[in-house]
Amino acid sequence: MLTRALKGRDFISLMYFTKEELETMLEVAFWLKAQAAVGVFPELLKGKTLGMLFAKPSTRTRVSFEVGMTQLGGHAQFYDPEHLQLAHKETMEDTARVLSRYIDGIMIRLYGLEKYGDARRILRSFADNATIPVINALDDKEHPCQIMADIMTMKEKFGDIRDKKIVMSWAYSDRIKSAGVPQTMLIAAGIMGFNLTLAYPPKYDVDPEYLEFAKEAAKKSGAHIEITHDIYEAAKDAHVIYAKSWGSFLMSKEEDAEYRKQFRKDWCISEEHFKEADPNAVFMHCLPADRNQEVTDEVIDGPRSIVYDEAENRLHIQKAIMALIM
Ligand code: CP
Repeated sequence: MLTRALKGRDFISLMYFTKEELETMLEVAFWLKAQAAVGVFPELLKGKTLGMLFAKPSTRTRVSFEVGMTQLGGHAQFYDPEHLQLAHKETMEDTARVLSRYIDGIMIRLYGLEKYGDARRILRSFADNATIPVINALDDKEHPCQIMADIMTMKEKFGDIRDKKIVMSWAYSDRIKSAGVPQTMLIAAGIMGFNLTLAYPPKYDVDPEYLEFAKEAAKKSGAHIEITHDIYEAAKDAHVIYAKSWGSFLMSKEEDAEYRKQFRKDWCISEEHFKEADPNAVFMHCLPADRNQEVTDEVIDGPRSIVYDEAENRLHIQKAIMALIM
């Protein structure tokens, strides 16, 4: 059922949304996608401006938000923190108060600070001082826009996903990456009631806050959350294998870089994993992928791969989110 309770809200964590609210975003996204397919672009944000503050690089997020605002009849502005007065130590709080006088919403990408949680603290403080909706475009804890696009993509492929086995798997990479994607998928499963198997080698446990939230939410939604350290067992009868590398919370970056090498062969998603899966299983990745580390070329370029549909759906779901909250 569609709900009107989203106007003016921040979109920082999926934890703050109900199943009904997330389903509203998906319904609007499917409607906007269908409209766009026949060349119709409802100007739901005519005359409005979205700020886009990127402290880290981006391809999909930057382009899809900017195109999304254009399609909604509005405008998007890109800010590099080095070229705002943040570079001269103007506070995020003052920046939030001032930008709120000009623009109608802002998305922020910030992660990789000294301590886990620092980026979320800054994002929260910005939102507390802003009078406009703030969208998390990836911080150190979550990537909510990505996971909403992923759920939209799974629904397109399978319809009802509640009876599907969805596997979110750690994958090898030379780079140490954020756990935002698996953590957000966990809480999405808990809230929305789908079955998620989280597979990772020992010592790659996610933030326990996310696992606890998902398990608690699952009691109400009926989700089934499973953890395994065996990727082949996880792949058995899977309908979705989603690969994503992330860093360990239990080791330094240097220790992690050395420790993870032993998992390079088994935790690069390949046809060997898909031999265990459902015959119609699909491969997902949020991109950018570290090819032949997280996934083989054969799989990501093969017929099971739906990675470009996921990337496209970033546009449609973000248009829906912006239209609903801004
Ligand atoms: N998946 C994703 O957020 O891609 P970008 O880093 O290119 O924005």
